[in-house]
Amino acid sequence: MAAIGLFYGSTSGVTEEIAERIREEIGEDICDLYSMADDYDDFEDLLNYEYLILGCSTWGAGEVQNDWREPLFDIEVEKPDFSGKTIALFGAGDCTGHGKHFVGALGTLHDQFKALGAKIVGAVSIEDYSFEQSTAIRDGKFVGLPLDEVNESDKTEQRIADWLEILKADFPALAA
Ligand SMILES: Cc1cc2nc3c(=O)[nH]c(=O)nc-3n(C[C@H](O)[C@H](O)[C@H](O)COP(=O)(O)O)c2cc1C
Repeated sequence: MAAIGLFYGSTSGVTEEIAERIREEIGEDICDLYSMADDYDDFEDLLNYEYLILGCSTWGAGEVQNDWREPLFDIEVEKPDFSGKTIALFGAGDCTGHGKHFVGALGTLHDQFKALGAKIVGAVSIEDYSFEQSTAIRDGKFVGLPLDEVNESDKTEQRIADWLEILKADFPALAA
């Protein structure tokens, strides 16, 4: 088992492609990849890792991507202990077409895993983004990394690189 578990949910393949890019950047030897649709059984899969990267796009009006819905419901009911876990969040959204609910899924994941004891890391400045509203902001920052392949795909590569630098402070495997 690798040091980091990267779990993603993706409907049209955008977050999936980003997850694969992130894993490639990090190194496949230190990062296991799980599709929430195809590879995930239950929250024990998450609990196997001390270091987690969770990817979730936003659908509906600020809702989590479909493959995360049932897992998050189970987790809410069963309340497994995530204390001692370090979690970083990323996800695709659309800052113009859905700028009133921009990357809201990240806020949902943040609140749920934080309530179960996880340390959520990798907050990102809102300055580089144009949007109307987002429920993914805490203390003036996004709780994770928003990526917008609809309007700003040219910024994705640099945003990922900057974010992975930030994560080095909390993910020892990335700093090694
Ligand atoms: C019906 C629909 C609803 C959407 N709702 C939101 C939303 O509330 N917030 C947001 O930031 N993006 C929203 N989006 C944009 C998607 O998150 C975006 O297209 C993303 O790249 C999809 O990623 P995925 O293929 O990994 O699921 C929506 C897109 C569609 C088609």
